[in-house]
Amino acid sequence: METRARRRPHLFPLLPLLLLLCGECPPVGGCNEKRMLAMLPHCGQTFAERMKKVEVWKWCNLSEFIVYYESFTNCTEVETNVVGCYWPNPLAESFIAGVHRRFFQNCSVDRQHWQDPPDEILIPLIAVPILLTIAMTGVVVWRSKRTDQVV
Ligand SMILES: *[C@@H]1O[C@H](CO)[C@@H](O)[C@H](O)[C@H]1NC(C)=O
Ligand SMILES: *[C@@H]1O[C@H](CO)[C@@H](O)[C@H](O)[C@H]1NC(C)=O
Ligand SMILES: *[C@@H]1O[C@H](CO)[C@@H](O)[C@H](O)[C@H]1NC(C)=O
Repeated sequence: METRARRRPHLFPLLPLLLLLCGECPPVGGCNEKRMLAMLPHCGQTFAERMKKVEVWKWCNLSEFIVYYESFTNCTEVETNVVGCYWPNPLAESFIAGVHRRFFQNCSVDRQHWQDPPDEILIPLIAVPILLTIAMTGVVVWRSKRTDQVV
C-alpha cells in the first residue's frame, strides 16, 4: 500500500506507449474522446491513492494536499493533450468534477477550512466549463445563423 501510494504519476512511461498506439490516432489535431476517457481514470486513481495517506478529517484543508491536487489537475491536462483534445473540455471537466465530489462533497459547506488558495482552483474549475459552454453555444448559434442567411 505504502509503495503504491508513493509511486509517481505513471505519465511518463505511458507517453511512448501512446505514441506507439498512435497508428490508430485521429488526424493531427483531432480529439479522441474515447481514449481520453480511458486515460483520465489513471489520474483519479493516483490522486485517490495519495489521498488515502491524508487523514480524512484533513480532506477539507486544501493546504494538506494541494500538491496532490495540482498534480492531479496537471495529469488530466497532460493526458487530455496527449490524445489531441483541448484542456479543459466538458468531458474532462465532468470527470474532474466527479473526483472532486467524491473527496470534497462535504467541504463546500464549511468554507473556512479551505485554506489559502482554494479560489484559484475552484473558480477556474467552475467558471471555465461555463465560459466554454457559453462560447460554444455562441459559435453554434452564429454558424447556424450564417447558414440560414446563405440558404
Ligand atoms: C505537469 O506535468 C508535466 C509532465 O509530467 C511536467 O513536465 C510539468 O512540469 C507539470 N506542470 C506543472 C504545472 O506541474
Ligand atoms: C459526506 O457526508 C456524508 C453524510 O454524512 C457521508 O456519507 C459521506 O461519506 C461524506 N463524504 C465524504 C467524502 O466525506
Ligand atoms: C491546514 O493545514 C495546514 C498545513 O498542515 C495547517 O498549518 C493549518 O493549521 C490547517 N488548517 C486547519 C483549519 O486545519
